[in-house]
Amino acid sequence: MANTIFRYDQLNPIIFGANAIGCVGEELTKLGCKKLMLVCGPNVTKSGALVKCEESLKAENIGYVYWNEVEPDAPSSLINRAAKYAIDEGCDAVLGVGGGSCMDLAKGIALLLDKKETEIEKYMPGPPLTIQPNVPIILAPTTSGSGSEGTQVSVITHEGVGQKRAIFIHATLGIIDPVLTLTCPPSVTAQAGFDVLAHCVEAITSRDRNPHSEVIALSALRRVRDNLVECYKNGSNLDARSEMALASNWAGLAFVNTDVHLGHITCDALSASCHTPHGIECAWVTPVLLKLMADYVPAEIKKIAEAMRVELTGSETNLEVAEKIGDVIHEMMKACDVKSLAGYGKTREDALAGANVIVEGPHLWGKCPVYVEKPLTMDDAVKFLGDIYDSYQ
Ligand SMILES: [Fe+2]
Repeated sequence: MANTIFRYDQLNPIIFGANAIGCVGEELTKLGCKKLMLVCGPNVTKSGALVKCEESLKAENIGYVYWNEVEPDAPSSLINRAAKYAIDEGCDAVLGVGGGSCMDLAKGIALLLDKKETEIEKYMPGPPLTIQPNVPIILAPTTSGSGSEGTQVSVITHEGVGQKRAIFIHATLGIIDPVLTLTCPPSVTAQAGFDVLAHCVEAITSRDRNPHSEVIALSALRRVRDNLVECYKNGSNLDARSEMALASNWAGLAFVNTDVHLGHITCDALSASCHTPHGIECAWVTPVLLKLMADYVPAEIKKIAEAMRVELTGSETNLEVAEKIGDVIHEMMKACDVKSLAGYGKTREDALAGANVIVEGPHLWGKCPVYVEKPLTMDDAVKFLGDIYDSYQ
């Protein structure tokens, strides 16, 4: 560490706690907002999760309009339409209450609202641009997954080129109210939770790893190990939901300063060829990634094993430590009824078809896959994807 320079950003404040959403009106008043666009999916509205939010807005005399159309991976045309509505309505702030896609949609709307434009594609030329709008953005997650309320990452689908791309925009404030996650369905809880796990593992093993990210990611990982399966099986357990909500945010804060790497690039590859959910791809990929990384970052792999409460004798090889962590992840996946790639109706060939994405990109993260000290060749990528297919049945 003596020869390392690293930077860590604390992008935005967070208010955390049960029923914390009730302070949203007061916070918007502090920001000088008069009319809000409230972005949330129809299920969030139906769940009653917004009652406290609306009471708080009314108490502060803040006007609001709803935008209830939310789609996975925030398609650009959806952002453009929502932004036009926000501009026409004279909104001066955006609140996103929902999962990662909803929060990223809210970020995109805020950018266009600030610019008084209706074409998000203009800001997505390829590698992510950092553009912070002057319109306040408050994000309140209803899933414990992407951590978007605390990171600069917004994943948006550029429909013109048919690619997921990123714009770097951070929230003005994140409100993490674990009560909002109580109605998250079990399957979504599992998907989001394995995404958190992958964010932790990749932050700890990144070439850009640093002590700040490591301590946060290891703490988040312990929380995932101890609470994800409970959240899946007993969604109304507020203690377990609170731990996962914190883990999700901390995993985001960890990877903000290290980036995610080969694991998430491989998820992009699987997503391109198999169209499976991101969090489930994270679950399939992470155990195999750990094995690939075992000899490059053995000390970090041991720390991950401790955080995952893996019992070690001390005589294991690096690879055996990684395999034991993989066994624990597979147990958690079984407990959460995670299906295999075959279970999703995908063949081995389907999985291998994404190998070119690993080797050549284009990558959402704007970098080449050199995170494991030596770049993967096409043969390496095919073998890696094959191992992912075979290792979990
Ligand atoms: Fe992710």
